[in-house]
Amino acid sequence: MQEGMGTWRRTHGCGELTKEEAGARVVLMGWVHRTRDHGGLIFVDLRDRSGIVQVVFSPQVSEEAFKVAESLRNEYVVAVAGEVRLRPEGTVNPNLPTGEIEVYAEEAKVLNRAKASPFYITDNVEVDEALRLRYRYLDLRRPEMQRLLKMRHQTAKAIRDFLDSRGFWEIETPMLTKSTPEGARDFLVPSRLNPGDFYALPQSPQLFKQVLMVAGVERYFQIVRCFRDEDLRADRQPEFTQLDVEMSFVSREEVMGVTEELLAHVFRTVLGVEIRVPFPRLSYKEAIERYGSDKPDLRFGLEIRDISDVVGKSQFKVFAEAVKKGGVVRGINATGCGNYSRRELDDLTRLAGAWGAKGLAWMVVEATGIRSPIAKFFSPEELENIKERMGARPGDLLLFVADAEETVAQVLGNLRLELATRLNLLDPEKFAFVWIVDFPLLEYSEEEGRYKAVHHPFTSPREEDLFLLESEPLRVRALAYDVVLNGVELGGGSIRIHRRDLQEKIFRLLGLSNEEAQEKFGFLLEAFEYGAPPHGGIALGLDRLVMLMGKRDTIRDVIAFPKTQSGTCLLTGAPGPVKPEQLKELHIITAPRKKSQPPSLQNTLETA
Ligand code: AMO
Ligand code: AMP
Repeated sequence: MQEGMGTWRRTHGCGELTKEEAGARVVLMGWVHRTRDHGGLIFVDLRDRSGIVQVVFSPQVSEEAFKVAESLRNEYVVAVAGEVRLRPEGTVNPNLPTGEIEVYAEEAKVLNRAKASPFYITDNVEVDEALRLRYRYLDLRRPEMQRLLKMRHQTAKAIRDFLDSRGFWEIETPMLTKSTPEGARDFLVPSRLNPGDFYALPQSPQLFKQVLMVAGVERYFQIVRCFRDEDLRADRQPEFTQLDVEMSFVSREEVMGVTEELLAHVFRTVLGVEIRVPFPRLSYKEAIERYGSDKPDLRFGLEIRDISDVVGKSQFKVFAEAVKKGGVVRGINATGCGNYSRRELDDLTRLAGAWGAKGLAWMVVEATGIRSPIAKFFSPEELENIKERMGARPGDLLLFVADAEETVAQVLGNLRLELATRLNLLDPEKFAFVWIVDFPLLEYSEEEGRYKAVHHPFTSPREEDLFLLESEPLRVRALAYDVVLNGVELGGGSIRIHRRDLQEKIFRLLGLSNEEAQEKFGFLLEAFEYGAPPHGGIALGLDRLVMLMGKRDTIRDVIAFPKTQSGTCLLTGAPGPVKPEQLKELHIITAPRKKSQPPSLQNTLETA
């Protein structure tokens, strides 16, 4: 039977009641969090999104309400009217914001019953994530998830308020559009009215925001869903949300400055945290050299040092050969790890191997000298120089990798994070922002045998590097910038190309024929010929931002209805089969399913 609320009117949220309300008659509506039957009295913790309050049912106060209480189970939806009373001495619960009071029920009504929940609706219990996603509506009732939903709302609001105050307009761009190259696969949507043709869901509004600049908008933003069919990880979803920004007549500094102020505003209003601006800056080259990554975590040191010059002529063949071949020898001082056991060292070596190293050399710094299986290959002077370069003191462990620069950076970048985890240096209370600038414009893809844009093809080269475009394209630096927070790439942007000739030149370098360029981006090239202003912008990953602000490890926790690693929605079962008639209307014939592809739900979740 469906029971309505009748004449009941809610007066307060459960979590809003304090001793100020003592004596007041209140009407609460919410979910039964827990019941305890103490014979003569029944205690019910009632929960809504504002919090939890204890409701006391006593037959002395109301026989009828007491009877209702006897029938209550967890997650029943109830309305309770009663009086707020101070809790008796000794029964105050300091762990509960409403712990000084309780509500004595005078009337109660079950608004809806609930089946037994597959997991207890509370934080700090280990629940399989697949189960959480399957029953997301129950999972989202947990206080922690409500905190994150609210924080996401507040973040979006703070963003809109700030950008509005700076003269930005929020403008929507199409979801059914043409392919925008951001380096991932497109999600395609068949067009019924244009047989055989497809829309692509936007990987980002990149081209539209540039066209909006040509349209004289000058300052645009959008909180916008983007779609990328790529392999999923903890910080990647097939659909995710960007804060997308574009400005006309600006330098790189101005875009970075607005972004810093925006982030400072968001952290101040949502978290009450003051972050220091301007953020430090590292060139891409420096980031790779010192941190082995273009998204370095600057909450801790453990910087990488180069000892190639010190050991290049040494008797240790592994190091000398690597340097001779044009490679490098670099290392990390694992401060205070000189007491690592053989097993721990083997463990690190095994990890280094998995990250691509051919080996991991180690040296323990002791008061009397250096203990290491390779110490014998170095002269006392070389050992002294190594120690000095590494800033080593007794008790430290030095770890080295020799190889091509790229491999060394990759291995040591990973090793740095591994050591930080072991040394407990990843403080979630710290927010370490950094800009990475001066990325190369292009990289060479061995696989495809062509140049590819490091950011995207619309990024402007630095003017002073333009002369290198033909002769040494890999040396051209881009007017691009990434903002990194605690080792996570939060956002990226650039000053754009706004002239047709330069844009065409870049397309050619990327191996795009004139015809292809015209077919894919003709509208942009044409727009550039009608007075395109110089412009630039940035996009921040909103999910990642809220994840870091909320101190979570995965963006799934800050997305109301996320997808699993295999791109499925465990709540709705999407994606799913469609009717043959639908396919026919869309002029689509599907290939028969392979046996290895079960048509049903795939609920694989990454474990990392
Ligand atoms: P980019 O591709 O770097 O730049 O994307 C900007 C930011 O979006 C977030 N992001 C993602 N978040 C979750 N899941 C994903 N699959 C995912 N992919 C990206 C990241 C990233 O830093 N048009 C350009 C921006 C510009 O040049 O203005 C762009 O999309 O936080
Ligand atoms: P080997 O000469 O191969 O016995 O290696 C001697 C030591 O050097 C071992 O501890 C190896 O792990 C280490 N080692 C080997 N190759 C490398 C390398 N490319 N970089 C750093 N250390 C290495």
